[in-house]
Amino acid sequence: MKILVTGGAGYIGSHTCLALLNEGYEVVIVDNLCNSSIESIKRIEILANQSVIFYNADVRDMVSLENVFHENSIEAVIHFAGLKSVNESINIPINYYENNVGSSIALFNIMSKFNCKILVFSSSATVYGDTAMSPIKEGSQLSANNPYGRSKLMIEEILQDLYVSDDTWHIGRLRYFNPVGAHKSGMIGEDPNGIPNNLFPYISQVAVGRRKKVNIFGGDYDTHDGTGVRDYIHVMDIADGHIKALEALNIKSQLLTINLGTGNGYSVLDVIKAFESASGLKIPYKIVGRREGDIASCYADTALASSSINWNASYNLESMCKDAWKWQTLNPNGYQKIG
Ligand code: NAD
Ligand code: UFG
Repeated sequence: MKILVTGGAGYIGSHTCLALLNEGYEVVIVDNLCNSSIESIKRIEILANQSVIFYNADVRDMVSLENVFHENSIEAVIHFAGLKSVNESINIPINYYENNVGSSIALFNIMSKFNCKILVFSSSATVYGDTAMSPIKEGSQLSANNPYGRSKLMIEEILQDLYVSDDTWHIGRLRYFNPVGAHKSGMIGEDPNGIPNNLFPYISQVAVGRRKKVNIFGGDYDTHDGTGVRDYIHVMDIADGHIKALEALNIKSQLLTINLGTGNGYSVLDVIKAFESASGLKIPYKIVGRREGDIASCYADTALASSSINWNASYNLESMCKDAWKWQTLNPNGYQKIG
């Protein structure tokens, strides 16, 4: 089965492409490399010992996209392409709506034209806003408090309308919690530009000596140790969730909306401790003020993922830290400096 993976050179996309190849799928990637490197694709090919078809193109470019569908018999699409920084989205909202919503509309149009109706879309736990009670069920009320989150919510709604208009579509809306870690080889991983916004890459860069200490945003939350609690999930579990979703969607048309999380909440201090034990290093940190927009606690109810697509997360926090650390030590500067 030939799968188009938009954003396949990126963090989650690259791990999912590798998992797809290992499961015997053929992979076509469309990525404009605006937040990734061609090196990740080369490494996927080495790890899988197979090649992928790569188009350096913007998903919003309908002429290129149409060409991809003309040249390949695409049977299903996994749509990762998009911009993902909450902070950046507040400063340049139009770019976020244009890229995330615009690329999705272009893609869904071309898919309709080629009668390709199996789609898995990368949504986010951010669509639950800041009022949902953890463990969060898929039926919880939705809201978003920044342009990035609103762009995800808009695309979810577009997909709902699309399915209502034509129930021969097979649509998966996967709401990821906090994807972290890397493939166990340490050859592919998360490679953020500039100063990382997210906890895991920040801790990794402190451990490897690129940054002095972790600033913990808030020590006075109503959690077991006062620091923010999240549902960290290994990126290879996320990749596997896409394969399970594809399998379920392939069987019947439906609109599937599921959480991809472990169901466990860990605090910032828990993560630092686990990372120290995985790396054997002391991670210096300082508790500073809360970060605007953060909530105390956010973790998934995973029952629906388990019952509907037979998927359960299998990696624990220790493996997430171990694999993130291996990637960081083998690639202290990400993909950048390797030829
Ligand atoms: P990423 O930035 O590493 O990957 C996204 C990829 O899409 C990049 O390779 C980028 O170059 C490409 N891209 C962006 N806009 C494009 C366009 N218009 N045309 C072609 N390519 C384009 O991000 P990621 O962490 O791998 O996230 C993948 C998806 O999952 C995103 O949609 C993101 O919003 C969503 N998501 C991520 C997280 C997370 O914490 N990483 C959490 C929830 C949801
Ligand atoms: N944190 C720190 N210091 C840091 C970075 C983060 O203390 O340097 C804390 C945060 O305050 C939070 C926790 O670590 O308590 C996790 O923060 P991240 O930035 O790693 O992740 P978020 O939960 O804030 O957000 C992530 C993605 C969003 C996505 C959301 C839900 O960045 O895009 O998960 O999927 F919407």
